[in-house]
Amino acid sequence: MPVPMPTSADPPSTGRAIQGPPTGAADPPASEPAAHEPAHAPATGPVRWGILATGGIAETFCRDLALVPGAEIAAVGSRSTARAAEFGARHGAARTYGSHAGLLSDPDVDVVYVATPHPFHMEAVLAAIEAGKAVLCEKPLGMRASESEAMVAAARRRGTFLMEAMWMRCTPGVRRLRSLVDEGRVGQVRSVQADLGDQLSTDPAARWQNPDLGASTLLDVGVYPLTFVTMLLGEPKALVGQAVLSGRGVDNAAGLVLTYDSGAIATVTCSQHARTGSTATVSGDRGRIEVAAPIMAPPSLRLVATAGDDPDPELFTDPIIGVGMAHEAIEVHRCLQAGLTESPLVPLDETVLVARLLDQARQACGVVLPGDR
Ligand SMILES: NC(=O)c1ccc[n+]([C@@H]2O[C@H](COP(=O)([O-])OP(=O)(O)OC[C@H]3O[C@@H](n4cnc5c(N)ncnc54)[C@H](OP(=O)(O)O)[C@@H]3O)[C@@H](O)[C@H]2O)c1
Repeated sequence: MPVPMPTSADPPSTGRAIQGPPTGAADPPASEPAAHEPAHAPATGPVRWGILATGGIAETFCRDLALVPGAEIAAVGSRSTARAAEFGARHGAARTYGSHAGLLSDPDVDVVYVATPHPFHMEAVLAAIEAGKAVLCEKPLGMRASESEAMVAAARRRGTFLMEAMWMRCTPGVRRLRSLVDEGRVGQVRSVQADLGDQLSTDPAARWQNPDLGASTLLDVGVYPLTFVTMLLGEPKALVGQAVLSGRGVDNAAGLVLTYDSGAIATVTCSQHARTGSTATVSGDRGRIEVAAPIMAPPSLRLVATAGDDPDPELFTDPIIGVGMAHEAIEVHRCLQAGLTESPLVPLDETVLVARLLDQARQACGVVLPGDR
């Protein structure tokens, strides 16, 4: 199954149920909705997406969006008029803009998908929130925890929906894994191993090699296995790590060990120089679950009992829509239709927790980002 990895990748108003608050105010007046109350009414018709940036992952996301009932690509915004037009024509967008501001001022866009490189997420996300748009932002939400915290605080203050595009948490295999763990099928979780790696181009101009474009395997790839273990084990009591750094200080591969008050241990490995197994194993005192690759959208899970009568392993398979990104779009639709400002499947507090752990991981591994200098 093709997996999205870094290589790859003034309109007429029709009137709609979702309306954002007035734009232009940096801080909401006291009369604005209290934190966590939606600034927009629940979506009742098709959900109208605005695509902000036209790179590799935006392409993959839009192909999956075409498979989601009720999704419309209403508009595309790019730094380039020509790229917006070309991308928009390919994906059937009604309107295209040669600026992010144009896209954000379109009244017929309900939710903005931010797909710029991560150093530019915060600017786009804050502008979209200010415009009263719901936002799905590519991972990692911020370059560092302080950025993620600022975006989450802004969305909560404004009452707008915000979700990190951590599509892994929405895929059927990962949802089933969480159900099996919650049902106690492996007992108390004692060990989680999660890995993700791919062999990416070593071109120094590539986004994942260029520090100015946020290059960091921990941020780009490691965010998945780190989210995976955090989703199951919560906040660790300690984290140690090592990384392999390029001549420009980019972590090309990293390994983390996390320990927990519960007595559990987790390992996280990530690489952009090796196509690793990209699997996970979740082991408890009654059994283990072997998660097939890729961990973001596992096509199958194998449950092996290690206590009691030791029955035959059980295999669980769940169909995946598209490459799996469709499931996060479906979750966004569900939340908007329910009037939620946050997805219970992808909680913002956990996005921030993982961002803090990434900060710790970079410190442990000696990784310095341009903004840290
Ligand atoms: N969910 C996943 O599986 C997955 C996979 C890969 C990447 N990602 C994430 O998605 C984001 C984008 O990755 P990508 O691989 O799609 O990158 P990409 O192919 O380089 O595309 C990023 C796009 O952002 C815009 N852009 C580039 N430089 C910019 C700048 N300096 N300021 C503002 N906009 C700029 C460009 O669009 P315009 O020319 O239209 O402005 C560019 O095409 C990253 O945060 C990455 O972590 C997620």
